[in-house]
Amino acid sequence: MSNVQFLIKGLAGSRTLKGVIPVGGAKNAALKALVSSLLFRDEIILNNVPDIEDIKRIIDLLKEIGVRVKKNTKDNYSLFCESTIKSNIPEEISKKIRSSIVVTGPLLARVGKVSFPHPGGCIIGARPINFFLEGFEKMGAKVQITEDKYIIKAPQGRLVGASLFLPNASVTATETFMMTAVLARGKTVIKNAALEPEVERLANFLNQCGARISGAGTPTITIIGSNGKLLSAKKIQYTTIADRIEAGSFLILAALAAEDVTITKCNPKHMDAVIEALKSAGVDMEIGKKSIRVRASSSSNKTSIHGVNIKTHEYPGFPTDLQAPMAVFLTQAKGESLVFETIFEGRLAYTEALNSMGANITPMDPHRILIKGVTPLRGKELESPDLRAGLAFIVAAVIATGDSVVHNAYNIDRGYEHIEKRLQKIGVDIMRINTKRDYD
Ligand code: EPU
Repeated sequence: MSNVQFLIKGLAGSRTLKGVIPVGGAKNAALKALVSSLLFRDEIILNNVPDIEDIKRIIDLLKEIGVRVKKNTKDNYSLFCESTIKSNIPEEISKKIRSSIVVTGPLLARVGKVSFPHPGGCIIGARPINFFLEGFEKMGAKVQITEDKYIIKAPQGRLVGASLFLPNASVTATETFMMTAVLARGKTVIKNAALEPEVERLANFLNQCGARISGAGTPTITIIGSNGKLLSAKKIQYTTIADRIEAGSFLILAALAAEDVTITKCNPKHMDAVIEALKSAGVDMEIGKKSIRVRASSSSNKTSIHGVNIKTHEYPGFPTDLQAPMAVFLTQAKGESLVFETIFEGRLAYTEALNSMGANITPMDPHRILIKGVTPLRGKELESPDLRAGLAFIVAAVIATGDSVVHNAYNIDRGYEHIEKRLQKIGVDIMRINTKRDYD
């Protein structure tokens, strides 16, 4: 747990937020673009990289194994993978960030071997890595599991193309295999691939630099491997797409508390599920090409919003990463709403804290909750359990009556850049306490 907290003075249900809030680059796109440096023989340059803790952790990891990383400006980085790159991923860093699993494939493809610890410390956990291990084996690798790590080797140092079916449309498994297959020998087909826009963005960048990937953004992705020939970025630069989860989080906050808030630098085309859910709950929005405006004066926003059922789903369905903020929204909606979390287990535990603030949320089973509204919320001391629930607690604290403290700001800093400064600009009374972060 970090020593940093946020102190928030609630608006007691009034709609006073006003102004413009720009969206940053997508965490889950930039993380993979940084890792893609392992596929290149020259330097890559990345733009619009968010200044968040998860990005710092993956950069620490890449530096540790031998990637030269230079921060040129606040959001612009150059990366160059040394030929002396190491194949063992150190335990200390990899345990801090789950997406370190994405590094394993490109490293295996480039060096012919990789060893890494059990992510999160145990092999069979809520976030397993079986898809990765099975896929590497299908590509010809030998997987050895010791007490404390996985050791994976490609015979003669080269992986071979394979037909891979993902039992779930896993985002990181899709991205990992796509990158791994770029350097393999022969053709790889990924079936039931993830459709997330971040996957497509990565494929487009790699293709511009010499990869042969087709079908990204559809359930079947085909990669023709280069048999070890590294990619070259030349003068092509990567620009991170807008973070659709951050945009959705701001939109939910605006739907609850905006007098007049415009979310800019976003891509509403990537946000259909959340926009449609809010619309059917009665929220009126003005959708532009790269912006969304919410005004209290819009006719339907004057009357109260009503409950809707939400079922999380792989893209383009309702994102699991917006499930917790949406649940906060639904505590303020008239009637009953059923929220069905289909992607992850244990992603509903935060609801207990919302109930302690005055919400009426009943767990139905490990994947479903029933929310009854409208329930005014009271300020509270809260412990941010993970990134997305942490943000949901900030939203709850903003609309509540009284003061709230959200502990463990690290979890929020993992994925939202300087959240307090950006929310202050639209009128949220939020302060960071103990600005000397113990994780700097
Ligand atoms: N799964 C397996 N075996 C595996 C891999 C995944 O059973 O080897 C299962 C998972 O347990 C889960 C399902 O497949 O039930 C889908 O999970 P997925 O693999 O898609 O999740 P992920 O790739 O680990 C990414 C994002 C998450 C986001 C999910 C779903 C990154 C770094 N992370 O995770 O983002 O929730 O996709 O969209 O891209 C976040 O940003 O807060 C976050 C958790």
